[in-house]
Order: sequence, then structure tokens, then C-alpha cells
Amino acid sequence: MKTGHTMKSIARHEFESWAETYDRSLLHRFLFQPSYRMFLEELQGWRGETAEPFDLLDIGCGTGTLGAMLALSLLPARVVGLDYAAGMCRVAREKACKAHVADRLRFVTADSEHLPFADGSFDVVTCSNSFHHYPHQQAVIHDIRRVLRPGGRLLLIDGFRDNIVGWVVFDVIITAVEKQVHHAPWSKIHEYFETAGFRQIRRRKFNFWFPLLLTVGEA
Ligand SMILES: C[S@@+](CC[C@H](N)C(=O)[O-])C[C@H]1O[C@@H](n2cnc3c(N)ncnc32)[C@H](O)[C@@H]1O
Repeated sequence: MKTGHTMKSIARHEFESWAETYDRSLLHRFLFQPSYRMFLEELQGWRGETAEPFDLLDIGCGTGTLGAMLALSLLPARVVGLDYAAGMCRVAREKACKAHVADRLRFVTADSEHLPFADGSFDVVTCSNSFHHYPHQQAVIHDIRRVLRPGGRLLLIDGFRDNIVGWVVFDVIITAVEKQVHHAPWSKIHEYFETAGFRQIRRRKFNFWFPLLLTVGEA
């Protein structure tokens, strides 16, 4: 088992070199876009009825597509995207400028384990397809809980590897390609949430051939 430092370096290197072409990859279509749509559906169901603005932090935001989609939607979200790879944040800023929503989005280069925000800064934290890169997953969930306001929600999406399709896709193929990653089973994710003090924990599995798991918890 490599150290946490090595695991993070591998992830940073992978995404620094992928940043420019990330949005054109097939994975973007089959894994990432369904995740953004799922977040929008969840947020619409939860905050769609109210015009009251809310603060959303997207961890491991990649090229900032979720932020851009939110800025173009009717949801009154104030979005901060955070990513460890500076190249991903740069592409995210360029995308926000092109979509004329740069004034509504902010991108920060930082590590998900050490969130550079005060306690209780956000109403929602989202994180999609990034959690399997984190060497200290429980620590990340704890820090997310810290930056959420009481009643706020964490929406976490990552590969579902608890059935045979998911096991082949994530534990065999993606792990062989990305080298040092860890897709936690649902039971472990539930335990992370519970240990960090989240309540009302629920899950939704979606996307048959590239199965994904959404876990939601309330702070
Ligand atoms: C597969 S991309 C997912 C991007 C986006 N959330 C999506 O669903 O398209 C994973 C992202 O997680 C970021 N990442 C990996 N380790 C990280 C860490 N320790 N802290 C913050 N971001 C990290 C990578 O730089 C990359 O942009």
C-alpha cells in the first residue's frame, strides 16, 4: 500500500495532464454527466421551491461543469469549486468565463482533506467521482461535516462496486488504469457518514453499465 502522499501525487499528476481534454472524454459522457444530472435533480427536489440563495461547495470539482450548470439553472446557488489540480481549476475558470457566469463561481486549488473554509460556511457539499482518490476518506468526511451549517447536506457520488458490473468496472478496470485508488463499499461509506455525525443517511444507485452510488447525509 502506497502512502497517502504518493496516492495524492498520482491523482494530481493524472488530472494535471488530463485537464485540457477531460470534457471530451467518453467517461465524461458515461460517468460524469449522469452525476451532474443526479445532483441537479436532488438539489431541485430540496431547494427548487425556494428563492433563498444557498452556498454550495463542490469538492474535486474537476473542470467545473456542475458549477456552470448550476449558474445557468434557476437554482440560486453560490458555488465554490475546489480541486487539487491547478490545471482543472484553470479550465473551470475559462469555462465559466465563456458561459458568462464567472461572477457567480469561484474556484480554489486545495486538498479535500484540509478545506480552507471556516466552520459552517456551506449549505451543501457535493463531491462526484473524486472520493476514490482520497487516501484518508474518513478525515475528508469529517472536514466536510465541519464546513457544513446545521441542517446542511453532503451529496457524495462515486463508483458503486457492490455488484458484479460495478466490481469489474471500478475494482478491476478503473483501478488498473488509475493505479492507486480505492472505491469504498456502501457499508463503509455509511460508516464514514455516521462516524462524522451525519443523520438521515440514504443512498441511490443509478447508471446501469457504469453504476454509481449517491449517498446523502444531513449535518
Ligand atoms: C474524475 S475527476 C471528477 C471531477 C468532477 N467532480 C466530475 O464528476 O466530473 C476527479 C477530480 O478529483 C480531484 N482530486 C483528486 N484528489 C483530490 C484531493 N485530494 N483534493 C481535491 N481534489 C482532488 C482531481 O484533481 C480531479 O479533478
